[in-house]
Amino acid sequence: MTKTARAYTNIALIKYWGKKDKALKLPYTNSLSLTLDRFYTDTKATIIDSDEDVIYLNNTLLTHTQSKRIVNYLNTIRQFYSFNEHFRIDSINHVPTSAGFASSASGFAALAAAINSSKNLQLDRRHLSILARNGSGSASRSIYGGFVEWNAGTDNESSYAEPIDETPDIDIAILSVVINSQQKKISSTVGMENSVKSSPFYSNWVTLVASEIKEIKQAIAKKDVAKIGEISEHNAMSMHALTLSANPPFTYFAPETLRILQIIQQLRQKGILAYATIDAGPNVKIICTKNSIKTVQKYIEETISNVTCVVANIGSGIQYI
Ligand code: DP6
Repeated sequence: MTKTARAYTNIALIKYWGKKDKALKLPYTNSLSLTLDRFYTDTKATIIDSDEDVIYLNNTLLTHTQSKRIVNYLNTIRQFYSFNEHFRIDSINHVPTSAGFASSASGFAALAAAINSSKNLQLDRRHLSILARNGSGSASRSIYGGFVEWNAGTDNESSYAEPIDETPDIDIAILSVVINSQQKKISSTVGMENSVKSSPFYSNWVTLVASEIKEIKQAIAKKDVAKIGEISEHNAMSMHALTLSANPPFTYFAPETLRILQIIQQLRQKGILAYATIDAGPNVKIICTKNSIKTVQKYIEETISNVTCVVANIGSGIQYI
């Protein structure tokens, strides 16, 4: 029986930013994430008697243009596993656009798992991670819950994510601060490509990530949330320095992004645990403890208008429901 696959989104604490192989989505560096419990995608794949795939997202049929990336991905899977069938894909994103999380991590992880169930491929989690990575790099990590590391690897078989601790007993919570203002979007795929091509600091980034991965794993083992936050914030700022130093330069930051970064620094001066991480967009995710998160949320909501806050905790890996 074909099952619906559920995958949760993840937030990178040590970012993936740059591919050495674009077709296979092989990254230059390892990356490390935390899976979150609030945002997920449910996907079902049904084999149909047709020579075209049909894709429904949030109960709406996608046009050919809208479904191109997904259909290309399904073509890759057909080629990998040597079969010809086409699918009807029903995917529901429980990643409210207002939550400011990219849905590609949970989206491609759920899709990989849905095909695994529909075609009864019986993939183990390593191969599921490899399959998800071929859809979107960050999706390789959403196969697992808790803290997860994606090993860069050197070819398709050696680039996959592995759990560090799927159910960590650690006092961490993430506040997602969504900035409700529109700005031109540069996809992560394009943003990282431009950074690799033209930032003079790209080779420093590769060296930095190697040392920060080691340090953050030690902090995770010690359950030292302040240290995890400190390393994550430094890593995120270093990633964004690659966009500002690209040629031509670009940034994902909005004015409110900088304002929130300032507030986080002020809160820390008052002894409140709060550290920022930012992906390929203006929204800020704040690493807190279960205790500090309420104060941080209150302070941000009182100081800045035009933002929405969402609280998330540690999430689990792929589920079949
Ligand atoms: C900043 O996984 O969306 O969120 O592999 O091109 O689909 P593609 O990129 P994607 O990039 C995520 C970039 C990031 C950092 C991270 O999640 O590690």
